[in-house]
Amino acid sequence: MPSIPDKNGIITALTDEEADVTRRRRKEFGAFAIIYDFMLERFTRPRVHKADPQQHREVLANLIAPVQQAKVLDVACGTGGAIAHFHESNDYTGLDISYGMLKQAVKKAQRKSFNACRFIQGNAEQLIFNDESFDFVMMDTALHMIPNYQLAITEIARVLVNDGAFMCSTPAMGINREFDVTWEKMSAKYSLHSLTVPDIENACQQAGLCFQQCDANGGILYFQAYKGRQSAI
Ligand SMILES: C[S@@+](CC[C@H](N)C(=O)[O-])C[C@H]1O[C@@H](n2cnc3c(N)ncnc32)[C@H](O)[C@@H]1O
Repeated sequence: MPSIPDKNGIITALTDEEADVTRRRRKEFGAFAIIYDFMLERFTRPRVHKADPQQHREVLANLIAPVQQAKVLDVACGTGGAIAHFHESNDYTGLDISYGMLKQAVKKAQRKSFNACRFIQGNAEQLIFNDESFDFVMMDTALHMIPNYQLAITEIARVLVNDGAFMCSTPAMGINREFDVTWEKMSAKYSLHSLTVPDIENACQQAGLCFQQCDANGGILYFQAYKGRQSAI
């Protein structure tokens, strides 16, 4: 793994293989990074996901708070919205395809004193880490836009230690009717997946992860998936 960050604190590890939609998205998020947090709070979360932004933060905080003194990977970390919820005793790695989004995340991390912390520009479909490198992996609001989302989950399972947990929030069909109507109109236009709970559970099972639904907030599904367990607790 490349280990030397550039002047903005980011390690670039982009792979040659990148789907056209991912390349386009990398540029779009880069252009949009400075206003991303504002747009998510005021527009995308309430109007598209039909979800309450404050409830989203509370659910994430509850799921993340028990994670301490752990090696954590935040896949598609974006501007680092989850950083605030992590205990400082953790060794945090944020990975995203967009350099501009990562620059915002670096600023959030500078306000904390993580045990260790690094930011990597890379692709969720081809994680550059060794097997069993992380105790906890999370992905907030990104699974629906990763072209081969099953491969991303397989990669996450690979880099998790045995008994490690994957925590994810994602827009999902079939849990909120109002969201479903909106999403049906826009998902194809923006090349976004219309994932169902069985789609996600199946991808987790294929990757050797034991799926457990945790919560829902409008059209946002929260789940955890455990490596090396036969059944959820
Ligand atoms: C909707 S944003 C979510 C960001 C952050 N996790 C949050 O909840 O605010 C989706 C993020 O996924 C990133 N992304 C999209 N495709 C990716 C890929 N293939 N690999 C890594 N990151 C990707 C985008 O750059 C963007 O930052």
